[in-house]
Amino acid sequence: LVLLTAAGCGGSKSQDASAYTPEKPLIIKFSHVTTADSPKGKAATKFADMMAEKTGGKVKVEVYPSSQLYGDKDEMEALQAGNVQIIAPSATKLVGFNPAFQIVDMPFLFKNHDSVLKFWDGDLGKKLLGSLDSKNMLGLAMWENGFKVFTANKPLTKPEDFKGLKFRTQAGKVLEAQFKALGSGAATIPFGETYTALQQGTVDGQENTWNNIDTQKYEEVQKHLIISNHGRLDYIVLTNKKWYSGLPEDIRKAFDESMTEATKYERELAVELDKESENKLKSSGKMQVVELSEADREAFVKVMEPVYSEFSETVGKEFIDGARQL
Ligand code: LMR
Repeated sequence: LVLLTAAGCGGSKSQDASAYTPEKPLIIKFSHVTTADSPKGKAATKFADMMAEKTGGKVKVEVYPSSQLYGDKDEMEALQAGNVQIIAPSATKLVGFNPAFQIVDMPFLFKNHDSVLKFWDGDLGKKLLGSLDSKNMLGLAMWENGFKVFTANKPLTKPEDFKGLKFRTQAGKVLEAQFKALGSGAATIPFGETYTALQQGTVDGQENTWNNIDTQKYEEVQKHLIISNHGRLDYIVLTNKKWYSGLPEDIRKAFDESMTEATKYERELAVELDKESENKLKSSGKMQVVELSEADREAFVKVMEPVYSEFSETVGKEFIDGARQL
């Protein structure tokens, strides 16, 4: 009896676990764009440690942070080509594969943190992750970062303040439309090049989470911040589907267990570090931080409404309505 794994369908049988030893381990490359001390960075390291432990050193996960190996422009291709085995891009950056991933960018959509978790752990989130299967990418988990706030070098207190400024975006037409609604320009710039773009004035501002602002040191090049919490930064942890299917069974089991534990760790850590970075940036005095009043928030919601009329179909009513109900 010959048991074929999913990879068997593609002609290759699953590898033999005994081929690997602590001296000659299976190398798994995990590439990402944030720093090693960001929640994503720390969870990637955690995953690496767990894999080493669970396989008795037969697997070595090499983590490459800060776009050292691949950045926004090439990490997806590198994954599909098998040059790297794990990446964790923000959902937004998967727009080229499925525009519905821009659900995270729909302004003021998710009520709170809980709704975000319910979305990704529920049927809609699973459907989105599964939509990458045909691209030889297996969605393993959602790792989070947090809600985004805006920063710029001019005071930002109300929608009018955004007029005429240019903001850096991660990717996609939804973010572009969001800034257009605010009367601002937008430019897609890889994460690894954003600090320099802000420093050199290529763009006037950007939107990101407290922890990314903190770990990227944007407070050195941005003077103003408004706590808008208008959109989400959530990651989709991805592996190469064919490669994964070909893993020896015991290694795949260790892989799945490690991913489950790293995910739990990442999500708890993201919440903790988000708060820590918020406190740190507020008390550093380097940026002027503006809290959004309920009335101001309503003003932003209203100004950004055109994003819904323009993109409800592209992103999908099913996802938008589903997210709104949570
Ligand atoms: C960004 O480009 O701003 C983020 O997606 C970076 C990241 O991975 O947190």
